Amino acid sequence: MRFLHLQLDLNAVLVYDYLIFYQNQYVLGIKTVEDCMFDQVLQEVETQCREVRIPMLGPEKAQFLANWVEKTKPSLIVECGTAIGYSGLWMLRVLKAAGTGRLITIEIDANRAGQARANFERAGVADLVDSRIGDAQEVLKSIQEPVDFLLLDNNFDNYFPCFQAIEPQLTNPATVLADNVGIGADAMADYLEHVRAHYESETHWFEINLPWVKKDAIEVSIYRR
Ligand SMILES: C[S@@+](CC[C@H](N)C(=O)[O-])C[C@H]1O[C@@H](n2cnc3c(N)ncnc32)[C@H](O)[C@@H]1O
Repeated sequence: MRFLHLQLDLNAVLVYDYLIFYQNQYVLGIKTVEDCMFDQVLQEVETQCREVRIPMLGPEKAQFLANWVEKTKPSLIVECGTAIGYSGLWMLRVLKAAGTGRLITIEIDANRAGQARANFERAGVADLVDSRIGDAQEVLKSIQEPVDFLLLDNNFDNYFPCFQAIEPQLTNPATVLADNVGIGADAMADYLEHVRAHYESETHWFEINLPWVKKDAIEVSIYRR
């Protein structure tokens, strides 16, 4: 019983510290309440991914992705592989700040897609996202608008079929980022051979600190007709 009280007291202190930290940032004028809420949701999503081993980009690669979104200012990003919305949140933060751009994100696991939707809601960015459930290779065929930014982060052997499915909608030029090209190179060899042979394409390596992988790469390809 005494242990339970101590545990409850400790939790109360942690929650209090958490609130004071965000309140201070707000009071100091560093961040709006909305920004603080967004940061809190992103932090919780990252923690959940690490704890229950839901695959995600991790902060090093996510920052790289966000920089590309900031640089290219896309009108429509399509993401294959939502998981619970970690990479989506990083991209949506940039779109929201820019005041333009939308995200269509596709996830085959309905439970994960549901969690992602809830996270987008809580982070205040749900109005910028269209979250779809299904096999990306099939769902992509239903997209009839121009796509100027593509993120491939689903099952490795689906990268090339996904690329081919969305190619008619890719703008000229379009930015295509493919995650896991270090650890998944063999399974996505057809995709990598294609983009490296036909487009300006570069491999960027990262030292990462995820429980399941410490080094991996992202391929950035500039698609042109
Ligand atoms: C590496 S995780 C995505 C991580 C996410 N982009 C992030 O950084 O937060 C890959 C996700 O792709 C999903 N997936 C696997 N095969 C898929 C497919 N054929 N179509 C759509 N999603 C798929 C998995 O269920 C998993 O949630």
